[in-house]
Amino acid sequence: MAETVLDYEAEAAHYDRTRGGAPRAEAAAAAVLRLVPPGARTLLDLACGTGLVTERLVRPGLRVYGADAAHAMLRVAAGRVPGRTVRADARRLPLPDASLDAVCAVWLLHLVPFAADVVAEAARVLRPGGVLIATVDKDAAHDVGSDIDAVLRPHRRTGAASDGSGPIARAAAAHGLVPAAGARFTGHGQGATPRDTVRKLRAGYFASWFQGDPAVVDALAAALAALPDQDRRRPDPRYRLVSFVGRG
Ligand SMILES: C[S@@+](CC[C@H](N)C(=O)[O-])C[C@H]1O[C@@H](n2cnc3c(N)ncnc32)[C@H](O)[C@@H]1O
Repeated sequence: MAETVLDYEAEAAHYDRTRGGAPRAEAAAAAVLRLVPPGARTLLDLACGTGLVTERLVRPGLRVYGADAAHAMLRVAAGRVPGRTVRADARRLPLPDASLDAVCAVWLLHLVPFAADVVAEAARVLRPGGVLIATVDKDAAHDVGSDIDAVLRPHRRTGAASDGSGPIARAAAAHGLVPAAGARFTGHGQGATPRDTVRKLRAGYFASWFQGDPAVVDALAAALAALPDQDRRRPDPRYRLVSFVGRG
C-alpha cells in the first residue's frame, strides 16, 4: 500500500520478517529471472535492501550485484552477496556507462518521487540491448477485492503513483528503452489485516491520498476497526514486473 518513505536504516532489523521473508523473495527472484535474457552475464539489483531477493538471483554465469542507499539494509545484504554490494543512490550509480547487461528494481519506484531519474540512470549503465526490470503499480496490486479494500478504495489515488506503468514506460522510452515483457509474483505474507491497516493509517502510510486529513483518518480507522476478524490476513497481492530493452 502507499507508504510514506520509511526510515530504512531503522527498518533493516524488521525487514525480512515483515516483508514476506523467503517465500516472497523466492517469488520475486523467480519472476525477475524470467525476464533476464539468457545471455546476460551481469545483473544489478537496484535498491537491493537486505539482499533477500538479490541472493536468490545468483545463477551460474550470472554475476549479481546489489546497490542500496541505506547503510543498515546494505550491511545485511553484504552478508548475503559478499563483495558484491555498494552503497549508492539509485540516481547516481558509481558505474561506467554501458557496463551492465541487466538492472532490476524490486519495490523501489513506488517509494521515490524521482522514479524517472532512476530509470534514466539505469538506462545509462545498461549496455546496448541491456534490460531494465522493475516493479510497477505496486499500490494497485493491494486492491485484492477484500473488505479492507472496500473501505479504502474510494480514497485510493493510484493515478498519482510514482511507479505508475504509464509514466515509467514514458521515462524508459525517453532513454531508448522499449517495453519487452512482464511477469507477476505473489507477495507472500503481504495480505493486509484490518488491525494492521489501522496502524498504518495512523502512522501516515496513506496520507498522500487525502492530504492526511484527520477527519478522514478517523472515519476510515473506525470503519476498519468495525470489520470482522481483525487479525486475519486478506489475500496476498500479486505484484507486477515489467521489462524494457535498450536498442542494441
Ligand atoms: C521496499 S525496500 C525493497 C528492498 C528489496 N528490493 C526487496 O525487494 O526486498 C526499498 C529499498 O529501497 C532503498 N532505497 C530507497 N530510496 C533509494 C535510493 N534513492 N537509492 C537507492 N536505494 C534506495 C531502501 O533503502 C530500501 O532498502
